[in-house]
Amino acid sequence: MAYRLTMVGTGYLGATTSACMAELGFEVLSLDVDAEKISRLQAGDLPIYEPGLEEILRRNLANGRLRFTTSYEEAAAFGDVHFLCLGTPQKPGEYAADVSYLESAIESLAPYLNRECLIVGKSTVPVGTAQHLADKLARLAPIGSGAELAWNPEFLREGFAVKDTLHPDRIVLGVASDRAEKIMREVYASMLEAGTPMVITDYPTAELVKVAANAFLATKISFINAMAEVCEAAHADVKQLSLALSFDDRIGGKFLNPGLGFGGGCLPKDIRAFMARAGELGADQALTFLREVDAINMRRRARMVDLARELAGGSFQGCTVTVLGAAFKPNSDDIRDSPALDVAVKISQQGGQVTVYDPVAQENARRAHPELSYGASALEAAQGAHVVLLLTEWQEFIDLDPEQLGAAVATRKIVDGRNALDSETWRAAGWHYRALGRP
Ligand SMILES: NC(=O)c1ccc[n+]([C@@H]2O[C@H](COP(=O)([O-])OP(=O)(O)OC[C@H]3O[C@@H](n4cnc5c(N)ncnc54)[C@H](O)[C@@H]3O)[C@@H](O)[C@H]2O)c1
Repeated sequence: MAYRLTMVGTGYLGATTSACMAELGFEVLSLDVDAEKISRLQAGDLPIYEPGLEEILRRNLANGRLRFTTSYEEAAAFGDVHFLCLGTPQKPGEYAADVSYLESAIESLAPYLNRECLIVGKSTVPVGTAQHLADKLARLAPIGSGAELAWNPEFLREGFAVKDTLHPDRIVLGVASDRAEKIMREVYASMLEAGTPMVITDYPTAELVKVAANAFLATKISFINAMAEVCEAAHADVKQLSLALSFDDRIGGKFLNPGLGFGGGCLPKDIRAFMARAGELGADQALTFLREVDAINMRRRARMVDLARELAGGSFQGCTVTVLGAAFKPNSDDIRDSPALDVAVKISQQGGQVTVYDPVAQENARRAHPELSYGASALEAAQGAHVVLLLTEWQEFIDLDPEQLGAAVATRKIVDGRNALDSETWRAAGWHYRALGRP
């Protein structure tokens, strides 16, 4: 049977999953409470930057497999499988995740469910959420046990979201029945045929896999950044240290690049929510190390500001600082908890005249931080700068010509916050080059 799918929530995750599942041949109806977002998506205008996605969106709008709505009633009548792609941000003033968007989506959808269906949660949630939502669903759905819940955490990476969705490295599925497993095996049949490993488990294990994966990745990044701190103290070079570690295949080189650390809409809030949930479960000691992981990560931002101030001559007063990058990572326009913007704002608060440039996250940054200045290009943003900071490693920044940039700035001083530039080349062009964790 060709199941009809709905996506509830069309943000980074939902928009990507919508277009990609339609691309795989499913009929998809996607829902959001944000009417403006829905009309843009329906018009083929992707509200986010994600390489390759807009093309897929447009192709599947044109062939009629993909549609958008704001009506829960319509979604309930249409779908055999409803994917939940709601946000789970950090609660203000707390470490815990806010799962109220998921709750409200179930409360809106369930009363219309009078045909058999499967609800599949994809959001990253505190362990225990799936069971709680399953209970709520059972209370509210007129079809009763005909509407069931499964948990299928998502591992896609912004910037590689299309590839990760069409060719995931694994599928994790928490189910409460054989029926749910059978439906999901059909939904993911093409991926399973291609050899994608699938782990079938219970709700809590599926929920935990996602946060455990993010905790591990965050730990790896903070590990190398802790080594950067030691290298700075010992006048050693963390980039060479990282390279040497990477040849050990038990360690590997991925997520081992020292720099300004992690940010974005996932890692920071996920490790904090994980700690909060472990605390509620009485297992807080198991995760106290994540506090340190978080602290190391935040210290990199403070160190970056210190290094920039040092190059500015001890104070930002009267100093023009160019910040290259606003997105939390390259190939994304996502500025949620962006280390680059965090540093830019701190320098501006300390009296620096900050001009930011980002190839795609510029407008998001301007909306969030109208107090900063913005340049139309890297060269324009660098006009008259006393210090340049490379904070998001976009390829176009790595490709910058030190001579050309040198002609724009007032003084040739650069801090490479991502260890992305070739220090020799920049020094040879007369730049005072500094990087985190390096002499
Ligand atoms: N962004 C990623 O790369 C990524 C990767 C893996 C997992 N995740 C997880 O996926 C989830 C979604 O993340 P995101 O980045 O897509 O978030 P997002 O904020 O971009 O998208 C959430 C969407 O849900 C909509 N929404 C809110 N309330 C709603 C409601 N009641 N009914 C319908 N729609 C509603 C919002 O308007 C928004 O469009 C989070 O739990 C996140 O941790 C995200």
